[in-house]
Amino acid sequence: MFQGRSLLKEVDFTQAELAYLIDFAIHLKALKKQHLPHQYLAGKNIALLFEKTSTRTRAAFTVAANDLGAHPEFLGPNDVQFGKKESTADTAKVLGSMFDGIQFRGFKQTDVEILAAESGVPVWNGLTDTWHPTQMLADFMTIKEIFGDYTGKNLVYVGDGRNNMANSLLVTSAILGVNITILAPDDLQPAPEIQAIAAEKAAKSGAHITITADTAAVKGADVIYTDVWVSMGEEDQYDERIEKLMPYQVNAGLFEKTENPDCIFMHCLPAFHDLATTTMQAIQAKSRLTELEVTDEIFNAPQSVVFQETENRLHSIKAIMAATLGHLFIPKV
Ligand code: CP
Ligand code: NVA
Repeated sequence: MFQGRSLLKEVDFTQAELAYLIDFAIHLKALKKQHLPHQYLAGKNIALLFEKTSTRTRAAFTVAANDLGAHPEFLGPNDVQFGKKESTADTAKVLGSMFDGIQFRGFKQTDVEILAAESGVPVWNGLTDTWHPTQMLADFMTIKEIFGDYTGKNLVYVGDGRNNMANSLLVTSAILGVNITILAPDDLQPAPEIQAIAAEKAAKSGAHITITADTAAVKGADVIYTDVWVSMGEEDQYDERIEKLMPYQVNAGLFEKTENPDCIFMHCLPAFHDLATTTMQAIQAKSRLTELEVTDEIFNAPQSVVFQETENRLHSIKAIMAATLGHLFIPKV
């Protein structure tokens, strides 16, 4: 059911398929914790093609490949001809003739689609401007670990409602039957075509979708999720975004409005908090702010599960690689 397939965007997978991958990731996490071998990709070679920077995705793909017995090769923006002297299609043919699978992180969704169409091997989207599907597997895995299930839970995503994370959370929630609220200023709400995909999926799953600018919408949330206000490639927009999004900062006041003491905090990371100790000092100096989308208080609070979410990138990326490329027996989960 998964052999030879690519993970380019969530909508290409059914509810049952996504649920299977999440459960498989939970199973692989248990194997890793028990130090049990799971080398389903022994002898395979994996290309890790990155146009944009990454900590979690690069680390997760590298360790996942090693744990699965494969060899990962990092191809960064200064290492390869792609993006400068060679077309995406030619790069795809070259990599596909040598590697067994390709991870791509970059700007354009069309590039990851071309890589999949032209390489002849499974391609996994490690983030584009439009979607972040491997993050979704880790996020809904984390929600399942904490609550026992994600079906019918209320997820409120707060902040930039037009970025890759908002798109992916909206559509994946709609597929999985998770009630999703996108809480964002009017001009940063999801594009009509993304809303249309989500509405179609929600009609099948029964998920409720709310798109609003009113922070009262956090009432009843089980999960408050946020992301950076300025995504990679948008760095010229800090001033405008800070002004627009400050009313949507995730802080103690917003959490109180959930009226749910069990509400958890999630963030895909990296996060712009604790700015005094990051390379974001320029923003801090300019805005005189030390916290942007989330306060240190919430980020470090017991209800914050951000590092569980991060660790789950490893197990869920392992699941998608093993399911689409594994040539050995994949245990039933
Ligand atoms: N969440 C995530 O994709 O992090 P990186 O940008 O560090 O890979
Ligand atoms: N929206 C963020 C996600 C980072 C994982 C970005 O694209 O920079």
